[in-house]
Amino acid sequence: MKKWYAVIGDPISHSLSPQMHSKWFEALNMNATYIPIHVPKEQLHQSINALRLLGVSGWNVTIPHKETIIPLLDRLSESAKWMGAVNTVVVEKDGTLTGHNTDGEGFVSSLEEMVGHHLKELQVLIIGAGGAARGIAFSLKAAGYESISFTNRTLTTAEKLVKEVGGYKALTIQSAEESLNDFQLIIQTTPLGMKSAENILPISLDLLNPSAIVADIVYNPLLTPFLLQAEKKGAKIVNGLGMFVHQGALSFKMWTTEQPDTEQTVEELTRILGGPYVNR
Ligand code: ATR
Repeated sequence: MKKWYAVIGDPISHSLSPQMHSKWFEALNMNATYIPIHVPKEQLHQSINALRLLGVSGWNVTIPHKETIIPLLDRLSESAKWMGAVNTVVVEKDGTLTGHNTDGEGFVSSLEEMVGHHLKELQVLIIGAGGAARGIAFSLKAAGYESISFTNRTLTTAEKLVKEVGGYKALTIQSAEESLNDFQLIIQTTPLGMKSAENILPISLDLLNPSAIVADIVYNPLLTPFLLQAEKKGAKIVNGLGMFVHQGALSFKMWTTEQPDTEQTVEELTRILGGPYVNR
């Protein structure tokens, strides 16, 4: 029988996940499909019951349900527990629901696919201290990255995250700007730079080390004002599309055990989003 998968969220119509997963099923000759489902906040519980009843094999979770879905699931993976958020649900053979989170690991896989595996000794600065920053920090730590600092508009949130992750530093925006030259990998995790968000930089890049790698988790637009500025200063830039594709590939692998072609997908979605030179 044909299997089916889904992504639930609100809004959902702009999600690229259905296109990406459907292509992977097709490329791997699998008898399965993946659909977007619009689920407003107040219908989350009912929707999960409906998904179960209708025999879904697994689904992705996006804004605004990543945290609120947790009490509605039977079990959580270690990564979902750490992050306090779920982006992937696996329906087990006995029908129970396990929540996972592939966002942070997706970021690390994408970074290493694009710029190599020899990055663990780099001094890392994460800008932002929300759910995305938490996921990335835990995954970097699990992958062996030794030095991670956080900077955030609200310092206390960064300090809280430092306590949770353990052993790293929280900096004010000003002290991060002043010591920016010390960092070789800078990761932007705030919504600034998204199409709908304000067009300002989260921190000034005046003192950016020209040999730094600068990553942004935003992928629409592909080139945020932050990345454009970093590129002008000579840095190597990494947009958020790879993270999006890799988090999806990790979900796909959990559901099917198959590994989709992530490099080809990044190329295809880059074209769909306007090409690598958009905004330049
Ligand atoms: P997510 O779960 O997607 O990471 P979040 O938990 O709302 O989203 O976190 C958003 C992050 O972006 C936070 O670090 C937030 O800073 P605060 O802790 O000070 O709220 C940061 N952020 C959001 N809007 C911002 C803005 N306009 N300027 C600077 N930082 C911003």
